[in-house]
Amino acid sequence: MGTSILDGILSKNILNNNDIFVLEPNNNQRKFLKKKGVSVFENIAEINFKKLGIKALIFAVKPQILETVALEIKKYIYIKVPIISIVAGKRIKFYKKIFGKDSSIIRVMPNTPATYGMGISAIYHCNKTKKIHFQKTNKIFSAVGKVISVKKENEMDIITAISGSGPAYVFLFIENLIKSAINNGLDKKTAIELVKETFLGSSYMASISNKSAEELRIDVTSPGGVTEAALKEFNQNNILKNTIDKAINSAVKKSIILSK
Ligand SMILES: NC(=O)c1ccc[n+]([C@@H]2O[C@H](COP(=O)([O-])OP(=O)(O)OC[C@H]3O[C@@H](n4cnc5c(N)ncnc54)[C@H](OP(=O)(O)O)[C@@H]3O)[C@@H](O)[C@H]2O)c1
Repeated sequence: MGTSILDGILSKNILNNNDIFVLEPNNNQRKFLKKKGVSVFENIAEINFKKLGIKALIFAVKPQILETVALEIKKYIYIKVPIISIVAGKRIKFYKKIFGKDSSIIRVMPNTPATYGMGISAIYHCNKTKKIHFQKTNKIFSAVGKVISVKKENEMDIITAISGSGPAYVFLFIENLIKSAINNGLDKKTAIELVKETFLGSSYMASISNKSAEELRIDVTSPGGVTEAALKEFNQNNILKNTIDKAINSAVKKSIILSK
């Protein structure tokens, strides 16, 4: 995810590569990042924050190691810089405990279509965040897709479950539609092409059309027709709706648990 954001920043010229410093312990990943023309470091001790004039930090590590990384970085920060984090679950209060109650913390929840500039990111900031820092964060994430602003921190758990994890649900549907097409006799290549283009076209249509998803679905469904036969199965005893509700509730709960 960090690499996708970096690519967006570079491709849209939001920052110069000279102004970007990446901390990356993975050797192969470091080699890969160096090719992008940014400065890459293996250890935090190699980074001279003052000399390099670092003005903001972006955390893009797994939640499980965030505390270790943040405590280490804290030793090297010489002034209060705004902290932007894409780490799922971790609350503003977690960062304040480490970096101080006056620190400026901005939480962002992006998603993987950001890799192709088609992501959606939700931003929530604390009451110490300056407008300029919020605007800059907005600009950074606009480079990899759309950005929305969130007023209540607990909405970030719902957003994580909907758009953060959402691509996985779509991929699951794509996977199973392909399998079903093959099971019914289509060759794999044809099945993949049909399903992928159907998702692409339908998402585009849902995105630009003035009609709601429900109206678009009704438009495709002739009474007594082929689509209706399939939808009857999805809707029997509200099976699809109930499964989606259960799955999302479970994801929201998990995001809340991870934040503790
Ligand atoms: N993937 C998503 O769909 C998604 C969506 C929204 C938000 N997020 C959030 O984004 C964050 C990163 O997720 P990801 O999927 O991009 O994970 P990832 O692919 O594992 O990326 C994390 C990167 O951090 C590096 N790292 C490990 N220890 C480090 C340290 N001590 N200092 C600096 N860097 C270190 C990892 O290196 P190694 O490979 O050597 O471990 C890896 O390159 C997570 O907190 C996640 O909640 C992810």
